[in-house]
Amino acid sequence: MTDLPRFPLAVLPTPLVGAPRLERALGCGPLLVKRDDLIGFGAAGNKTRPLEYLLGAARAQGADVLVTGGGPGSNFCPAAALAARAAGLDCELVVWGDPAGAPNLALAVAAGATLRPTGGTDRAAVDELVAKRAAALAGEGRQPYAVPRGGSTDLGAVGFARAAAELAEQLRALAARPAAIVLPVGSGGSVAGLLAGLAPVLPEVPVVGVSVSRPLGEVGRHVLDLAGGCARLLGGPAPRPGQLRLVDGRGAGFGTASPQERDRARLALHTEGYLLDTTYGAEAFAVAADLALERPDGPVVWWHTGGQIPAAASLLATSLTAGPIAAGAPTGEEGP
Ligand SMILES: Cc1ncc(COP(=O)(O)O)c(C=O)c1O
Repeated sequence: MTDLPRFPLAVLPTPLVGAPRLERALGCGPLLVKRDDLIGFGAAGNKTRPLEYLLGAARAQGADVLVTGGGPGSNFCPAAALAARAAGLDCELVVWGDPAGAPNLALAVAAGATLRPTGGTDRAAVDELVAKRAAALAGEGRQPYAVPRGGSTDLGAVGFARAAAELAEQLRALAARPAAIVLPVGSGGSVAGLLAGLAPVLPEVPVVGVSVSRPLGEVGRHVLDLAGGCARLLGGPAPRPGQLRLVDGRGAGFGTASPQERDRARLALHTEGYLLDTTYGAEAFAVAADLALERPDGPVVWWHTGGQIPAAASLLATSLTAGPIAAGAPTGEEGP
């Protein structure tokens, strides 16, 4: 769809599947699940898509180190660390907050990334510090490629524009016309790329973005700017702002899911085996379920964007603290 350099990481297309047990348990209309959790690269989920284009550009420019960043719960950081390794680059991560005990950052370090903690909790400061760190590395004779948090640039969004074409093809094969496409929105690159990529193929399908970190006014402007920039890079039609509907999924704050969101995530785990994190997945799935409960005309496409590392880590922590199921109860047959 574009001549832009791409460093392939993902196994595409990711499956688009039904979720009959989950539908029955919820008593809702049809759901189609776009399984970017099965994207086939590390546990990088949807973030694999922007990284293909960002690393394509980095390699085309002869970069030898990827500089980016995020917070303790960032899924982009480990994804970037793994992708940099796969592309033969070093990786430095500027991180806000406390990295101690964060499974995502532990994975990034295990993959060889160097963490540069900011020492503060200001998320927005990270992008500036990423640029500063890249300048310092250039001063030392390195060839850095700097990427803002989440990989959400016009170029990074091209990865999700490609995903829009992928989804359109899958929907065509199923002869399905969805009532809506629902996905979580953090730094905004995924939904922006989706809007840019849908503009030429499915401009009528509502895209519901569940904002997990920013107020709706701010995120709306940011997403539409990115979507416009991405469409210009692709030379495609301008995205339609009316196609985007934003829902505030922040609840009690970034990274926290409400009891109802957690219940629905548990249902998705128990019926279909989906691992949903409490920052992105649980929030977006709850909105997708609400829409499907209205039984609209057509299936609701819920984009499962990944986040399995924090999801698994929190489930494991819970089950480990829960103790034995029934201490002293008969255990059935003895093992060998
Ligand atoms: C699992 C998961 N889903 C969704 C998102 C949101 O994507 P974006 O930052 O492109 O809005 C992220 C962002 O890191 C993520 O990790």
